[in-house]
Amino acid sequence: MRKKIIAGNWKMNKTPSETVKLIEELKPLVKNDDVDVVFCVPAISLTTAMEAAKGSNICIGAENMFYEESGAYTGEIAPNMLTDIGVKYVIIGHSERREYFAESDVTVNKKVLKALEHGITPIICCGESLTQREQGITIDWIRQQIKIAFLNVTAEQAATTVIAYEPIWAIGTGKVATTEQAQEVCAAIRECIGELYGEATAEAIRIQYGGSVTAASAPELFVQPDIDGGLVGGASLKPDFGKIVNYNK
Ligand code: 13P
Repeated sequence: MRKKIIAGNWKMNKTPSETVKLIEELKPLVKNDDVDVVFCVPAISLTTAMEAAKGSNICIGAENMFYEESGAYTGEIAPNMLTDIGVKYVIIGHSERREYFAESDVTVNKKVLKALEHGITPIICCGESLTQREQGITIDWIRQQIKIAFLNVTAEQAATTVIAYEPIWAIGTGKVATTEQAQEVCAAIRECIGELYGEATAEAIRIQYGGSVTAASAPELFVQPDIDGGLVGGASLKPDFGKIVNYNK
């Protein structure tokens, strides 16, 4: 049985001091033993967030990471900078990073490999645009994203990763994918992982849905057979996130 994983992606929101306040506020609300709870916060707040989350069930994740160990990469964050402060998760290849910071499937693959090498769990994002959905190429597109993201990743490593299916047209738009649409693509992702690595890996890997998840939509989404939780943007910054984490109560 896969344990659910529900992560907040704070994106470019909250200062370090606001981070402490929000974690204090959410801490009592996000207790649920059935769920792994992750807060992915801006790099500047990681240390503060780690401190604030101490002793709680909240794991802290980063929103990005570079694929080199160190060196002349102004503005980037190395994997050992994350592990040094105890960060366990990192979002890789979010569509906003692909759109605004020119991340490609190839850089996503490099980052995934590097994160795994350092024992950080990558939350690997994939998703189609509205045009692609309308063209009927959603599944083909996602399969390609997955195949490139997992190049040279072993089956053993793949089983530990998290994939977030985030249709771009559903992000921040209030337009949540229907349960059927989300389940269909998450099932296709699991099938693709099965083709690459076999049944056991496909059964082990956790696949999230992301895109305008709210306390109202979470319960139906998260009980789908191939949806193992969510990657939540806007609603992760509010007390509502507690309800999302407790979708099964
Ligand atoms: P929203 O929940 O704000 O649509 O954001 C989804 C997302 O991009 C999470 O990574």
